[in-house]
Formats: sequence, structure tokens, C-alpha cells
Amino acid sequence: MEARVSDSLVVDTFRMRLADIADVDLSQLHALSIAVGWPHRAEDWRFLLDIGRGFAALDEIDRVLGSAMWFPHGDDFATIGMVITSPRLQTNGAAQWLMRKLISGEFGKRRLRLNATRAAYRLYLSLGFSPRATVYQCQGDARPMPNAPHIPAGLTLRELSPADLDQMTALDAPAFAAARPLHLARLFEESVSYGLFRGQNLRAFSMCRRFGRGHVIGPVTALNEEEAIAVLHPHVTAHAGTFLRLDTHFKTGTFANFVQQCGLPVFDTVTTMTLGEHADYGPSEDGEAMVFTLASQSMG
Ligand SMILES: CC(C)(COP(=O)(O)OP(=O)(O)OC[C@H]1O[C@@H](n2cnc3c(N)ncnc32)[C@H](O)[C@@H]1OP(=O)(O)O)[C@@H](O)C(=O)NCCC(=O)NCCS
Repeated sequence: MEARVSDSLVVDTFRMRLADIADVDLSQLHALSIAVGWPHRAEDWRFLLDIGRGFAALDEIDRVLGSAMWFPHGDDFATIGMVITSPRLQTNGAAQWLMRKLISGEFGKRRLRLNATRAAYRLYLSLGFSPRATVYQCQGDARPMPNAPHIPAGLTLRELSPADLDQMTALDAPAFAAARPLHLARLFEESVSYGLFRGQNLRAFSMCRRFGRGHVIGPVTALNEEEAIAVLHPHVTAHAGTFLRLDTHFKTGTFANFVQQCGLPVFDTVTTMTLGEHADYGPSEDGEAMVFTLASQSMG
């Protein structure tokens, strides 16, 4: 990536300059995401600002016209998200400028991953990202499930406590292709979490937190589909009749069927894209844990 990207850009009649996103008024960022139809609440932005970094594009009178964020996971990996330009300025090169600024900056040699909307797909291709997998954004009013799914013999399901975070991180790291202890710890504070154990050993976990129009279930990490369903089910039951969302790489199979039965049809798709990373997504054949639902499209 080239080293020098200009600190300002003239788009239409606007001269835009960059600001640290941490210094920008939250209500303006919230207005920006509402303008492109995204469901984030101010609290959702606050959470992302707490764990991520990035830029906002401001005009001469400090109105926010764009944003781009990244979320470090240790020293060698990051996800990118919240890339938005104001609708009245789109297709004028603003997102390209923001992304080049981001990528030429602080990343160093980090592997990068993001989830691209259709509108952003070409932008990321032009920056060298490769498409890896489709993400199915499933959402709707959750249906009460009359029967609890079968829990395999010898396994116990219970609500998780902070003492379980080390095991959650260890189970999740190979599945996510990066250890994310800080993100899991912050998510845990916002979430109700369940785990499936054989004896003292964690085999699957799920988190569910407030987001957007209702609640989101993610991440869910598990060794197989049956156990992923076992940890998903308590959240669906808890939120039956209300808006629930999850983002998954699984399109078919037992887990995907269960999600449909829960009243969460596919609402949209995005594409997981990577730069410098060759992780696999979706079903694993070697008995390792898999990420069944994302924490969010921005956090991966
Ligand atoms: C995606 C988005 C950030 C692009 O912003 P932008 O300022 O219009 O992007 P740019 O003008 O820099 O264009 C970058 C590339 O994307 C293409 N592009 C822009 N909008 C597009 C659209 N709606 N559909 C298809 N391609 C589009 C441009 O043609 C350009 O491609 P090129 O370099 O081959 O010419 C903007 O449309 C947006 O905020 N959308 C809603 C939120 C969103 O989807 N964010 C992406 C999250 S991953």
C-alpha cells in the first residue's frame, strides 16, 4: 500500500479532513449510520468506539460525512468495519480515500478481515482484499421453540461466569483464527452467555446482547452443529416474540435449518474478505471448533 495518502479531499463542493473518530460527537456518528439505514443505537456505537479505532471525515463546519474503523485483535490481526460515507457524497471516492488512509496508517503487518456489503465489495477488491465466504444475516421475530434440543449424554449446559473466559478464549482462538481475549471479555460484560461442558471442559459457548432493533446472538463457537444449537437455544427461548439477529457463514445443514425454524430467515448477505489471511470459514473437517455466528459484522 502506498505510504502517503492526502489528509484532505475535495468531494463535490465539500473539502473533507480527517479526525480521530474518538474525538467526534457520538450523535453525529449515530446520524451517519442511520442515514445509510443501519440499525446501530448510540450505545452500539459507544461500544465499538470503546474497543476500536479509526477516522471520521469532517467538512469545514465539522459535520461528519464519513467513517472507517478498525478493531485490533492482538498485534498481528485486525478487523475493519463501520465504513460509511454520507449518501449525498457517495460514489465520489470518499470511502476509497478513508480506506487508503486507514490501511496506509497503523496496521503494520496485521492480517485484515472485513465483511463487505454489496456497495463496498468493489472498493475492497480494488484495495487487494479477496472474497472468502458469504455471511448470512438472519433476523426476525424469534419463534418459541416447543422442544429443547437434545443435549448429548454426558454434557451439561449452564450460564457462564467471568471465570470461564480463559476457556472461551482458548476454544475460540483456532476457530476465529486469532485470539480475542479482550473482545470476548468486553462482549461478556454486555451479554448473557451459555456454555456446554463435558466435565470441566468447555465445548461450546454463546453470547447474546442488546443491539440495534433487539438482540444479537454472537459469537457462538462450538465443536459441532448439535452443540452449537444447544447453546443457541436458551437465547432464542429468552427472546421469543422479539427481534433477534445472528450473522453466520452456515447456509445449509442442521444449524442453518434450526436458525430458520427459530423464525430468523436470511435478511441479507455480506462477503467476508481478507488481506494477508487465508483462514477457512464454515464447516471444519478436522474436529476443531468453528465460529457459528459472528460477534458482529465489524468485529468479525
Ligand atoms: C460502501 C460505501 C462506503 C462506499 O462509499 P463511496 O464513498 O461511495 O465509495 P467510493 O466513491 O470511494 O467508491 C469506491 C468504489 O466502490 C464503488 N461503489 C460505490 N458505491 C457503490 C454501489 N452502491 N454499488 C456498487 N459499487 C459502488 C465505486 O464505483 C468505486 O469503485 P471503483 O473504485 O471501481 O470505481 C457507501 O456506499 C456506504 O456508506 N454505503 C452504506 C454503508 C456500507 O455499506 N458500508 C460498507 C460496509 S462494509
